Amino acid sequence: MTLLSVEHLTMAFGSLVAADNVSFNVERGSIVGLLGPNGAGKTTVFNCISGYYPPTSGKVTLESRDITRAPAYKVARLGAVRTFQVVQPLKELSVLDNVLIGAFLKEKSTSKARGVANRCIDLCHLSEYRDALAGELPIGIKKRLEMARTLASGPKLLMLDETMAGLTSTEVNTAVELILKIRESGVTLLVVEHIMEAIMPIADKVVVLDGGKKIAEGPPREIIENEQVIKAYFGEKYSKRMKQERQNGPAPAHS
Ligand SMILES: Nc1ncnc2c1ncn2[C@@H]1O[C@H](COP(=O)(O)OP(=O)(O)O)[C@@H](O)[C@H]1O
Ligand SMILES: [Mg+2]
Repeated sequence: MTLLSVEHLTMAFGSLVAADNVSFNVERGSIVGLLGPNGAGKTTVFNCISGYYPPTSGKVTLESRDITRAPAYKVARLGAVRTFQVVQPLKELSVLDNVLIGAFLKEKSTSKARGVANRCIDLCHLSEYRDALAGELPIGIKKRLEMARTLASGPKLLMLDETMAGLTSTEVNTAVELILKIRESGVTLLVVEHIMEAIMPIADKVVVLDGGKKIAEGPPREIIENEQVIKAYFGEKYSKRMKQERQNGPAPAHS
C-alpha cells in the first residue's frame, strides 16, 4: 500500500529548476533510497515533501491526504519527519532533552514522553550520552541524536538526509543496522544517501535524480547497471567503457 505519493513535483528558484516534474511512490514498510550526484535536487525534494518549501507545482500525498504546501509542523504531526543534512541539535540541552522535544510532538504526558525518548535513545545506541550536552558531541553521535529526536516524534515516514556522510566505516555499519531496526519497528524510510554501498543492500527501491529530473527508478540491482545512472555519477567516458566491457570482457589494464 502506498504511504507517500509525489506527483509531478517541481520547485523552481528563479530560473533554476531544482526539482523538475519528479514523481515516485513510497510503499508502506519499505526503504526507498533517493540518490543522485551533488546538486541533483534531493534535499529540495525533501524540503518540498516535509513542508519547508512550498513547491512551484505538483502534488504530495501522505496516506491519501493532500499535504502539498502544508507547513512543516503539520506535516510532522501527520507523520512525515525529516532529518537535516547539517545537523542542528539544541546545543545547550542534553541528549535526553533534545529527544524529549521530539517526543512532545505527539505525547502530552511528561512521563510517557520520557519513556518514548529513552526507548529511542537506547535504539540509537545513545544511552552513554543521555546526559551529555548536545553541542559537545562528535559529529557521528550528533547524527544519531538527530535520528533519535525525529524517531521520538513517532513518524510513519522517516526521511533521512545524508545521515552517513562523514562517518567512519564502523559508524556506517551501525547506521545501516539502525535503519533496518527502525523499519522493523514499523516505520517507512525515505533515505538520501551518497554512500552507495550502504544504501544499495538495504533499499527495496531506488529513485535517482540528476539535474532536478528523475532519471531512473527500480530495485537496486537494476539501478547499478542503468546506463544513465552510471553516466550521471561517473561521466560519459566511463559509461561507454563499462558498456564495452560488459560486451567484450574487461579491457587490458594498460589500454
Ligand atoms: N533555497 C535555495 N535557493 C536557491 N537555489 C537553491 C536553494 N536550495 C537549493 N538550491 C539549488 O538547487 C539545486 C539542487 O540543490 P539540492 O536540492 O540541495 O541538491 P542535492 O541535495 O541533491 O545535493 C542546486 O543547484 C542548489 O544550488
Ligand atoms: Mg542535499
